[in-house]
Amino acid sequence: MCGIVGYIGPRNAAEIVLDGLRRLEYRGYDSAGMAVAAVQGIERRRSVGKLSNLAAILQEQPISGHLGMGHTRWATHGGVTEGNAHPHTDCTGQIVVIQNGIVENYRELKQQLQAEGVPFVSQTDTEVIAHLVAKYYRCGEELLAVAVRRAMQQLKGANAVVVMSALEPDRLVAARMGNAGGVVLGIGEGEMFVASDMPAILDYTQKLLFLEDRELAVVTAEGAEVSDMNGQPVKKSATTVSWNPVLAAKGGYKHFMLKEIHEQPRSITDVIRGRVDFDRSQVMLPDLEDLRPVWPHLRRLHAVACGTAWHACLTAKFLIEDLARLPVEVDYGSEFRYRDPLLEPGSVVLAITQSGETVDTLAAMEEARDKGMQSIALVNVVGSQAARLADGVVYLNAGPEIGVASTKAFTSQVVAAYLLAIYLGQARNTLPQERRQCLLQDLAELPNLVGQVLANGNDYEAIARRYMHCNDFIYLGRGINYPIALEGALKLKEISYIHAEGYPAGEMKHGPIALIDEHLPVVTICPADHVRDKMLSNIEQVKARGGRVIAVATKGDEEVADRADDVIWIPATSRYLTPVLVAIPLQLLAYHIAVLRGCDVDQPRNLAKSVTVE
Ligand code: AGP
Repeated sequence: MCGIVGYIGPRNAAEIVLDGLRRLEYRGYDSAGMAVAAVQGIERRRSVGKLSNLAAILQEQPISGHLGMGHTRWATHGGVTEGNAHPHTDCTGQIVVIQNGIVENYRELKQQLQAEGVPFVSQTDTEVIAHLVAKYYRCGEELLAVAVRRAMQQLKGANAVVVMSALEPDRLVAARMGNAGGVVLGIGEGEMFVASDMPAILDYTQKLLFLEDRELAVVTAEGAEVSDMNGQPVKKSATTVSWNPVLAAKGGYKHFMLKEIHEQPRSITDVIRGRVDFDRSQVMLPDLEDLRPVWPHLRRLHAVACGTAWHACLTAKFLIEDLARLPVEVDYGSEFRYRDPLLEPGSVVLAITQSGETVDTLAAMEEARDKGMQSIALVNVVGSQAARLADGVVYLNAGPEIGVASTKAFTSQVVAAYLLAIYLGQARNTLPQERRQCLLQDLAELPNLVGQVLANGNDYEAIARRYMHCNDFIYLGRGINYPIALEGALKLKEISYIHAEGYPAGEMKHGPIALIDEHLPVVTICPADHVRDKMLSNIEQVKARGGRVIAVATKGDEEVADRADDVIWIPATSRYLTPVLVAIPLQLLAYHIAVLRGCDVDQPRNLAKSVTVE
C-alpha cells in the first residue's frame, strides 16, 4: 500500500513531509512526490525511484511553506513514471490530491469527465479524484471539505485521500472510504499531522486520532473537525500510543511476516476488487484484453515460477484444468530455461512471481518469447521486469511483502489463478452462468473465512510448542492440496531451518513411510473433500507405525480429530479455495516454531527476498 504524510503548522512542511515519507519506506514504493502551499501558490515536486531522488530535487528546488503533503506510490494503475507519481492536480493546479487504494469505477468517471471536456495527463485513477473535487469546488458555493465529500461519494472501492487547495491554504482535508489503509491524525502543539501509518509521525506526536470508514476530517493547525459522509459531526477521542517507530512500522506485530499473514483478508480482497461483476457472474481482467484473439487458439499453458510461486503454479494447474478444461504444464523457471521446451502452436506461458525480478522466471519468459510464445504474468510489483516482459499482466495488488518468506503474495497468487481459471472458462465456454455464480459466491466469502482462520492464532502457537524441537517433518496432501503440502514444508524449512518435505500422500508407501517414527511429525492435509477418506487412511498408516500426526481438517470432522495427535480446524469452503484456508495455518505453524527456536523470521539466513542472480 502507498504511504501518505501531511503537515500544517509553524514548521517547514517540506522537511516534515520528507522525513515522514522516509519513515514509511519499509512499505515499499516505486515513486514519490509532495506538494506545499507556498506564497506564490501550491508547488509540486515528484520523482520515480527512491526518496533520495525526491530529496535531491527539493535540494535544487526547495519549497517553503507551512502546509504540505507527500506520498510514496506503490503503483496499481499506470506505470512507474513521474507523471503517474502523486500528488495529482486538477487542470488549474489549485486542487491537489494524494490517494491510497483503488477507484474501481475510475474508467466510467474518467470517461464522464472527459466527455465534459476535462483533459487528463496521467494513467492513474487518482487524477479522477482531483478533477471530481475541482468540479464540485468550482460550483462556487462549495467549501473544500464539501467538494471532497461529494467526490468521495462518487467513488467505488476502498480509498483514503488527502486534499489541499490553493484557495484554502490553511487546511488539509482527509477522507476514508473502506479499508484502503488507514488515515491517522497526529495532534501537536499548534500543529497537526496526517499519515497513512503511525511511524511517519510518532516522533512528533503520540496523541493520535484514527479516521474510520466513511469519515472526513478538516485539519488546521489548531486541530481537526471530523464528520461522516453525510456531513454530520463525529466525536472522536484521541489515543496516546507508546509504540516505538520500529514496532509501529510492523503495525504492532512482532515481525513483518506475522503482519503480512494477518493482512490476508485485505490482500485477498484487493486481488478480487474491481475484477468481478457479481451481477453478471463475470470475471474481468482488463489487462489481458489484448490477448483476447489468442483464446480461441489456446491449447496449453506452460506455467513457470520458482519456490513458493511454483507451488502457486501447481495449484493453478488444478484450477485451470478443472474450470477452463485447458491443459497446464508446470515447470521450475530454472528447468524450463535450459531444457529447450517443446512449445507447440497454441501455447502461452503463465509466469507467477511476487517480485517480478526472479532471474530464472524472467529467463523462462524470455526463452518462451524467443520461441515466439506470448506470456501472461501474475505479479505483485507493478512495473517490474516480469510485468514489462509479459503480454498480459494480472497484478496481485497485495502491497509490499517485506518478510522474505512469502505469505500474502502466495494466497493472492492462488486467488489470481482462480480468477484466471474462471476468466479462461468464460472465454472457452466451459463455465455456464450458474456455475460461475457459485464459484464467485464462494470467492466472495473467502476473506471472511480467512479472518476466522486467523482468529485461532493461539491454537497454532500451542501446537508449535509441542513440535518445535523436532528435526524433521513430512507434509502430506492430495490433489489440489498436494502443492500446499509442498508450500507448508517450504515455509517451515526456510524460516525455522528444520528439514521438511512435502509429498503427495499416495507416495507414502513408495519410500517415505520408512521414515515414520515417534520423532517425525507428519502434517496431513485432510479437508472434507473427495479424497478425505484416502487421507484418513494415510493418517492411520502413520499412526500404525508410531508416527505423530498434525491433521488439518474441516471444522467438525471429529473422525479425523480422533485419529490425529493434533488438529488444525479450517472452515468448510469449495475444494478450489481450500488451499488458501490450509496455507494460512501452515504459515502460522512455521512462524511460531521459528520464533520459538529464536530464528530471524523476517530475514532467514542465506535467503533473499528476490533471487535476481542464478
Ligand atoms: C518463498 O517463501 C521464498 N521467499 C521463495 O521461494 C520465493 O517464492 C521465490 O524466490 C520466488 O520469488 P518471486 O515470487 O518473487 O518470483
